Amino acid sequence: MTTHKLLMLPGDGIGPEVMEQVRPLATLLGQAGVARFEVETGLVGGCAYDACGRAISDADMALAQAADAVLLGAVGGPRWDGVPYDVRPEAGLFRLRKELQLFANLRPAVCYPALADASSLKRELVDGLDLMLVRELTGGIYFGEPKEILDLGNGQRRGIDTQVYDTHEIERVGRVAFELARQRGNKVTSAEKRNVMKSGVLWNEVITALHRNEYPDVHLEHQLADSLGMQLVRAPKQFDVILTDNLFGDLLSDVAAMLTGSIGMLPSASLGAADAAGGGRRALYEPVHGSAPDIAGKALANPIAMINSFAMCLRTSFGLVDAAGLVEQAVANVLAAGLRTDDIRTPGTRTLSTGGMGRAIHDELARLLG
Ligand code: IPM
Ligand code: MG
Repeated sequence: MTTHKLLMLPGDGIGPEVMEQVRPLATLLGQAGVARFEVETGLVGGCAYDACGRAISDADMALAQAADAVLLGAVGGPRWDGVPYDVRPEAGLFRLRKELQLFANLRPAVCYPALADASSLKRELVDGLDLMLVRELTGGIYFGEPKEILDLGNGQRRGIDTQVYDTHEIERVGRVAFELARQRGNKVTSAEKRNVMKSGVLWNEVITALHRNEYPDVHLEHQLADSLGMQLVRAPKQFDVILTDNLFGDLLSDVAAMLTGSIGMLPSASLGAADAAGGGRRALYEPVHGSAPDIAGKALANPIAMINSFAMCLRTSFGLVDAAGLVEQAVANVLAAGLRTDDIRTPGTRTLSTGGMGRAIHDELARLLG
């Protein structure tokens, strides 16, 4: 049996509470003989700042580099509002994304039939929804230079962020989207603002050429990012794979998340390049939701996004396709049985705590494993 090296970075806010629900699942899969996991833990975000004055230490970065996959909870919170910009909690996340070169962020938005009524949209618009948003994650305005606040000397200041994309950055994330589409509904919708932004013009041209040269069999559509936002809440089932840049992907994935009933449901995978030697690719898995400081420590958080992030990790990094399917099935069964956390509560269902939901999924997985 292969041993998979997993680094857990629970982070801040509800991060540790939801991460706690994953460990027993790993233990259970180990006991069932499905796989062996070597789990280490580290600090990222505000907790790392408190411990060492940085948003992630070099030692924990080395652990991340050595791991087969990283699982991250969430970072940030008002407690760290005053810390210097370059050591703020989010800087830990950005260091991980940048140094592990996790350029492709996969954010699936799947609406469980049992949750169609928890969505803010009408049931028929979201029932059966299954789309994949691919967000570029190591470029664009998040990392572009200059990024600064200038003092103009006349009582005025100027804030600057830079949106910048090179051809190869667009191509490599584009390939991820086209490859995914081939395994799904065979359609990619690429979103940018070519009507306003030069980087959008380039994005559009590069994706068009990539499609023509390498993926002519996939159906490609371009939409302006603002219009795509509108279409997401008007008729979300028209989409299969959505491909977009770092900033638009951040915004649009929050919208896509809410279609599923709650942002507490959405997992994500951040992937690097496939190893030339045919080995694994670097990968980090995290829920799309943040640290939710308002509900931290109250046992209200929904652990499903975290648990489904673990399932994505099993499938994508460890090749444990069946085990991943079983974890997802356990989640679906628990929801179908009318068990909910506070965020997805609807009349006639039973509300569980974070730990209660974790245990229910654990017990259902144990049952499925026989
Ligand atoms: C996300 C988050 C992060 C981002 C925050 C926490 C910095 O919103 O992963 O979507 O903006 O990328
Ligand atoms: Mg976001």
